[in-house]
Parts: sequence; C-alpha cells; structure tokens
Amino acid sequence: MQIMYPENSTYDPEVWKILSAFWHPVARLSDLTNKPLPIKLLDVPLVIYQTNIKTISIAVDICPHRGAPLSKGRIERERIICPYHGLEYDHSGQCKRVPASEPHADNCAAIKLKMVNWCERYGLIWINLSGKPKKPLPEWPTLEDNNFIVVDCQSELWNASAGRHAENFNDVAHLSFIHAGTFGNPNDPLIERYKVEKTEVGFNRIFNYNEVDKIDHLSDKSEIIPKIYSYRYTYPFSSELFISSPDGRALSIYDSICPESPTTSRIFISLARNYDKETPKEELQKWQATVNDEDRWVVESQLPKLLPLSHRSEKHIAADAWSLEFRAGFVNLGIGRNKGL
Ligand code: FES
Ligand SMILES: [Fe+2]
Repeated sequence: MQIMYPENSTYDPEVWKILSAFWHPVARLSDLTNKPLPIKLLDVPLVIYQTNIKTISIAVDICPHRGAPLSKGRIERERIICPYHGLEYDHSGQCKRVPASEPHADNCAAIKLKMVNWCERYGLIWINLSGKPKKPLPEWPTLEDNNFIVVDCQSELWNASAGRHAENFNDVAHLSFIHAGTFGNPNDPLIERYKVEKTEVGFNRIFNYNEVDKIDHLSDKSEIIPKIYSYRYTYPFSSELFISSPDGRALSIYDSICPESPTTSRIFISLARNYDKETPKEELQKWQATVNDEDRWVVESQLPKLLPLSHRSEKHIAADAWSLEFRAGFVNLGIGRNKGL
C-alpha cells in the first residue's frame, strides 16, 4: 500500500517523496517479541506485530477507529488489539471484532489497517512506503559469506540527520582527528587523492590509510598498519567499508540508517570479519560503540542540522571529493539544490 505524506511532518514534502521511494531498514528481526513494536520511518508512526511466530505484519500505528496507537495494545488469539476500544485486527490488518457492538451491528470488513510493504534481509526488516520501490536493497555479499563471522550491534538513535550521518561514515579526513583514541592515526592526516567510481546504486572508492591497529592486539600495544579502505555506498543511506590488511585479515563494517525524522536517525551497524573468530561478540560491540561515540557528538552538533545540497552552502576541501558527489547524487534524484536532508 502507498503511504501518504504524514500530517504534521517536518520533512520538506519533495524530500519526503523522493526518500519514500527507497527501502529503509527499521528494525532487526532479533528486536521482535510477542509484543507490538513501535517504529518510525520518515515521520510515519508504524507498528510491527506478530500474530504468531511465523507471521510478521507491519501497519501504520494509527487505529482507523479513533486514531489510538496500536503499538500500545496487545496481541491475543493471533490478533492485535487496540488499547482504546479493543477493536481486533488480524495479520492482514483486517478488523475481526468490535467488542462494543453486537455481532453484525458493524461492518468489520470496512475497517482495515494501512499495511506497508516490507522485506527481510541481512537480519533487518526493510520498509518501502511508496508501494513501488524504485531501487534495490544494498548488495552485501560479504555479510552472507560463511568465511566471515557476523556481529550485529545494538541500534542507536542519533539526534542527527541521515544525510549528516551517512556523509560522516564515508568521510576520510576526520579519521586522524575524531578517531585518534581508537584506530585513527594522528601523525598521518594527509589524504591522498582518490577516485570516486559511480555505480548503478551509488559510489565505490578505494583509499589507503595507515591505521593504528589496536583491536587485533588485545594488549595495550598498537601498530601502524597500511590498510586498504574500500567503500561501497548505496543510496539513500547504506554504506559498506571493507578494510583489508596486508596479512589477509579483512573486516567489513555495514552502516545503514533509518531516517526516523529529518533530524533523528536510527543507526544499524553490523561487522563481518574473517579473523579472530573466537573473540566474544560483546567485545566487538563495545569497540564499535566506542568508535560511534567518537563520531556522535560532532555529527549531532553540526549546523545546519540538515546536510545542505548546494555546493555553495559550505566550504569544501580536496578530501571532500566523495561528499560532493554524494550530495550531487541527491540533486540528480530530484531533490532541489536549495534543500537539505
Ligand atoms: S481507537 Fe482503536 S479501537 Fe477505538
Ligand atoms: Fe568516524
């Protein structure tokens, strides 16, 4: 079903329309329980509910009777029950019972939830609000490669726009500064010229970085290791960073964003690596959370809050070649140059 621009949204309607045509990740399968789960995408309140363990349903979280949030209700007898007047809906969103009415006094068939288009991949639930997705999901073969161990991180809600977060994930000039406490090399901030390769879905880029390698040495020792950073970006907000070391170790970081509102973003990160497979996943999750915290304060404080698409609105340096292409890509998708996201 096509979901319309939500009432009271703070999105620019043009930006909303373009973004609603994509798939967006909204939750991990592992987040689901036997209770309804409230989520938000592009200012649209949604509810994920499972009428039984095999069936996932996703609807707009507004009861068609009097607008109460279904996510505050409960699931019983394979139905989601609205907390306000107890109307019951099945897995397809069809109303099956109105407790306040005699049977047949109301036409249940005329009462139906607005269901949304969804799919599951990489352990994530993805939603498309337009009903006609224009672009595919990101292709991440390493995440499905048995030679790699995958660790999913707890999702994080950032007070930052999806545009600012995605640009930061792909920004290379900040590594030696913001990440000096983890893997960044403060003594080697110079960014070599790199090429941005356009693909059907976004951009690829390869960049060499002399990284301070700590995570692989569970002691206080660290070494400078020349690594190859291979970035693959898929519009609108999905990034892969594949990091390879000269000794064959490879770590891939996947960052995908749910734009909950123009200035709040839910971040889903997964890690896949072909080494140190015995390392407890909590240790890797802790490491990634530390790296995220290094980025978070700066991305949440950037002004303007929305990523400006006009070339003229911020000053650019040579290392920003990728960012300029990234911003221009949104203009090519149809978003006005004077807009932000
Ligand atoms: S608002 Fe949901 S049953 Fe009345
Ligand atoms: Fe960063």
